[in-house]
Amino acid sequence: MAFNENLYKEIMEELEASQEFITEAAGAFRWDLEQGLKKSEYSSLAMLPSFIGLPEGKEKGEFLALDFGGSNVRASVVRLLGNSNFEVLNWVEKPLVTAEYNLLNSSATSEALFDFLAETVGEAAEGNKDREYYLGHTFSFGTEQEDINTARLIKWAKEIAVPGVEGEDVNALLREALVRKGYANIKPVAILNDTVALLLAAAYTYPDTRIGCIYATGYNTCYMEVMPDVGRPACIINTESGGFSKLMPSKWDLELDRASEQPGRQRLEKMVSGKYIGELFSRLIKEVFGLTEKPSFSAVDMSAIMEDSVRAGEIFGTVLGDGASDSEVIEKLRQLAKAIAIRSARIVAASWAGTLWHLAGSSKVEPQHIAVDGSLYQHMPYIQENVRRALYEIMDEEAGGLEPVLVKDGSSIGAAIAAAVATCR
Ligand code: GLC
Repeated sequence: MAFNENLYKEIMEELEASQEFITEAAGAFRWDLEQGLKKSEYSSLAMLPSFIGLPEGKEKGEFLALDFGGSNVRASVVRLLGNSNFEVLNWVEKPLVTAEYNLLNSSATSEALFDFLAETVGEAAEGNKDREYYLGHTFSFGTEQEDINTARLIKWAKEIAVPGVEGEDVNALLREALVRKGYANIKPVAILNDTVALLLAAAYTYPDTRIGCIYATGYNTCYMEVMPDVGRPACIINTESGGFSKLMPSKWDLELDRASEQPGRQRLEKMVSGKYIGELFSRLIKEVFGLTEKPSFSAVDMSAIMEDSVRAGEIFGTVLGDGASDSEVIEKLRQLAKAIAIRSARIVAASWAGTLWHLAGSSKVEPQHIAVDGSLYQHMPYIQENVRRALYEIMDEEAGGLEPVLVKDGSSIGAAIAAAVATCR
């Protein structure tokens, strides 16, 4: 197992996202955003209306929240206090894939998946089959909505492949499953994307927030659009920014895309999000060592590798054996992980900048909070500071007024707010 120095250098150069690259990407992102609003076929952004605007912070009451994200399901009871504050009362969280079951692959069924979601919601309601509950449903995939309560799944993302859900109204699937499980008392009244839920949760406390960003297993942003369409009220738009396709990919990005569940789709997401960057790292390690089998490193492994050189040595030792025990080689592999993380952060900053430019129009970008949540943003080394640095590179001093805010449990709080808006106003 020999380390190919020249190929390593070539890869490191390819992974560099220069100031010019990200500034152009931000401009192209804004262009796609504005073309997407006009439904132009030349835009790669889906620009999906959510049929909900920003909250006032006064919404009140106790609601059930369901958060289906793609790795886990979380159900909770959320009490909105009406003064920009909230409490989470019950919390049930379950994985969707374990050694015993897999509810997300192509052999799973829509019925089994939604029954599982309904049971989890029932647990959060402590098995109560009498009391009437209103439920907000955060569903973290691109959907076509006609109103706040109906959402047809366009396409799965994040490598999920459960048949029988694409094209269906997922809130209706949930409603039917709740009835099957004896919970007709639980009424789904609102459905929303996780980015939208996050924005609602952040704006409940920080009213100047206009952008919501999930930077986790998947990647996506939404923002408050004041003029989404002629004749339609202002509402939050889920951009499905993971689908942005105007970044020049490296040949390794292309290979990763080709081998994925949905080739050609979610091109930006495949360059930045947790589901894919571990895979990219694994592929590049296979290349630099000329391995026949692809090793398997996750985004979590990448974080540990970047954080600590001793731990890095252990992880490489376990996955690659003795061939990667040289400390110089280990250091290079750590730099490789870092380069992938930094590229991810810089591309993310470009998508924020493009959105901010659109919101500002011909004026200056206003100081504001940006709602962001997700494992990569929270836990991966180098991400937060590189998003900020790249924002400065793209936007200069206008970046100084931007304050990213992490909202804990935003998907659940936002689901409760949406349920409140759907039922109380
Ligand atoms: C994927 C989904 C998108 C979601 C994002 C983050 O990109 O398509 O709807 O918001 O993951 O979970």
